[in-house]
Amino acid sequence: MKKSIISLLCLALFACSTKTTSPPIKGAVVSARIEASEAGRDILKKGGNAYDAMVATSFALTVVYPVAGNITGGGFFVYRSAEGETGSLDYREMAPLKATKDLYLDDDGNVIPGKSTIGGLAVGIPGAVAGILEVHRKLGSLPLADLIQPAIDLAEKGYIVSEKQAKSYNRYSKQFTGVNGKVTLYAKGYKAGDRVKNIPLANALKEIAAKGNAGFYESWVAEAMVNKTRATGGILSLEDLKAYLPKWRDPLTFSYKDLNLISMAPPSSGGICLGQMMKMIEPYDIKSMGHNSVESMHLMVEAERRSYADRSHFLGDPDFVAVPQDHLMDENYLLSRMENYSKEAATASADVSHGDIIVVESDETTHFSILDAKGNAVAVTTTLNGAYGSKVFVEEIGVFMNNEMDDFSSKPGEPNMFGLTGSEANSIAPKKRMLSSMTPTIVEKDNKLYLIVGTPGGSTIITSVFQTILNVYEHGMEMQAAVNAPRFHHQWLPDNLVLEPEKFDAKTIEGLQKKGHSVEAKYSKIIGKVDAIHISESGTISVGADPRGDDAAATH
Ligand code: DON
Repeated sequence: MKKSIISLLCLALFACSTKTTSPPIKGAVVSARIEASEAGRDILKKGGNAYDAMVATSFALTVVYPVAGNITGGGFFVYRSAEGETGSLDYREMAPLKATKDLYLDDDGNVIPGKSTIGGLAVGIPGAVAGILEVHRKLGSLPLADLIQPAIDLAEKGYIVSEKQAKSYNRYSKQFTGVNGKVTLYAKGYKAGDRVKNIPLANALKEIAAKGNAGFYESWVAEAMVNKTRATGGILSLEDLKAYLPKWRDPLTFSYKDLNLISMAPPSSGGICLGQMMKMIEPYDIKSMGHNSVESMHLMVEAERRSYADRSHFLGDPDFVAVPQDHLMDENYLLSRMENYSKEAATASADVSHGDIIVVESDETTHFSILDAKGNAVAVTTTLNGAYGSKVFVEEIGVFMNNEMDDFSSKPGEPNMFGLTGSEANSIAPKKRMLSSMTPTIVEKDNKLYLIVGTPGGSTIITSVFQTILNVYEHGMEMQAAVNAPRFHHQWLPDNLVLEPEKFDAKTIEGLQKKGHSVEAKYSKIIGKVDAIHISESGTISVGADPRGDDAAATH
C-alpha cells in the first residue's frame, strides 16, 4: 500500500515536471495521422513555411490515410500569412466534359441508386495535385521534390495499420473487390500492426516530383486513371485531366463579436452557412446559457435549421450560378430569418420548407491545420467524398478515385449520401464544381491569429466547426477539450436532431424533446474529427487532435 502511494506520488511529480519543462510550441501540424503530421512538422523544422508543410502533409496523407487522404480527390485551402494577408484556393473536383444533368437518372427520371457513389461514373476530375502544386508555386519556399520525398519514403518503407484502419479496410473489402473485380491492395485482410507498402504510389509520386502537374495530368498516371475509371463505367477523359485548373477565390469573411472569421466561399457552402449560423446566434448571450445546455443547443439548432434550408436552395458553383452571397450574409436578412424563433419551441422544418429524407452514416474526408514559427496559418480540408471514394482502385498508382459527383444534386429535392437536398443551383454540368460543406476556417481575435480549425463529416462539417469555435470563444474551453466535447447536428431536413451516442444525459434529451425536437437514438452517430490549433492572447499555442480518429499533432 505504502509502496503504491509512493509510486503514485513519483508519477504525479514526474507528470508535473514533464509538463513544466516542455518547451513552448513554436509550430504545429495536426492531421488525421501522426506520420502525416510529422512529415509536415519536419519540413517546418528544416526551415520550410506552413505552405511547404501543407504540401508534405497532403502527399503523406495520401499514403497513410487512403480512406480520405488523396491525390485523386479535391479540397479547399485557406491561409492567413504572418503579416495578416488572407486567401483561399479552390481545388475542388469538376464534372467531366461528358457529364450531363441527368447522368444518374433512369428513363423515368428517377435517381438510380449507387450510380453517383460507387464505380467509375461517380468520379469527378481530380483537383488535388493541381491545388497542392499551386499552393507551392505561390507560397512555398523549399523545392517541390523535397516536400514530396517524405510521402515517397512512407510509400516505399510502408506504414503501420492502426486498429481503426484495420477495421475500416476489412469493413469495405468486399466492396473494393466487387468494384475492381479482383483483390486489390486494401482488400487483402489486414490486422492492426501490419505494414502496408505501396510501390505503385511511390512511383506516381516520383513522376509528380519530377514533372509537376504534367506528371499527374498528362502522363502514364493520367492514362492509368482514365483507363480504370472507364473500365468501371466512368466517363473521365484525358482531355478532362489536361484542362483542370484550381482557382484562387476571395475567402468568405465575417465578424462575430470581436472575432473575424476567414472561411471558404462557394463552391463550398461552409463559409456562408457558418457565417449565417454565427450571425443568427450573435444577439443572444449563449455563454450564460452554458455549454450543451438545452437552451444553448436549442438556439444553435434553430440557426442550423434555417441555414441548411438556404444552403439547399441557393448554393452551387458561382462560376455557373448566381449565388446571392451578400444577401445571404446580410445582417438584417439573418435577423429576419430568426424572427419566428421561439425560446420555447422548435420550429418544424416543414414550416421552413418541405421534404422528407433520411440520415446516412458518416463517411470520410480529412482536415489538417498548420502553424509555422513565423505565424503563417493554414487550414486545409480535402476529400475523396465517401470513404475510399468510388472504391475504384487504380492499381498502377495505388490509390482510389473519388466519388465527388454525388455532391451534385442528381435531381432537385432528392437527397445525396449525406441526406442533403439541392436545387437547380447545384445541378450537374460539364466542368461545374459540386457544392461542398467543407469549412477550413481561420479565426482572428482583435486582428490577431486566434484559431485554425476544420473537420471531415459531410453535412456535419459546418455544425462541428460552429460548435468548436463557440466552445473555445464562448465557453472558455482549452483547445483539446473543445475538440473532445460532445457534438450535435441539425441540417433542416430530415427534421431530426442528431446527437453523438451516449454523450448526452437523459435530462438534456428530455428537455430538447419537450421543446419539440425529434431526438432519436437511431440517428446518433459520431460527428466530425476536428483538428485545430489555438493561439492564446499571450501567444501560447495549443493543439486539439480529435480522439474520434487516429488524429495526432506533431509540434516543435
Ligand atoms: O465536400 C463535401 O462536403 C463532402 N464531399 C465531404 C465529405 C465528407 O466530409 C465525408 N466525411 N466524413
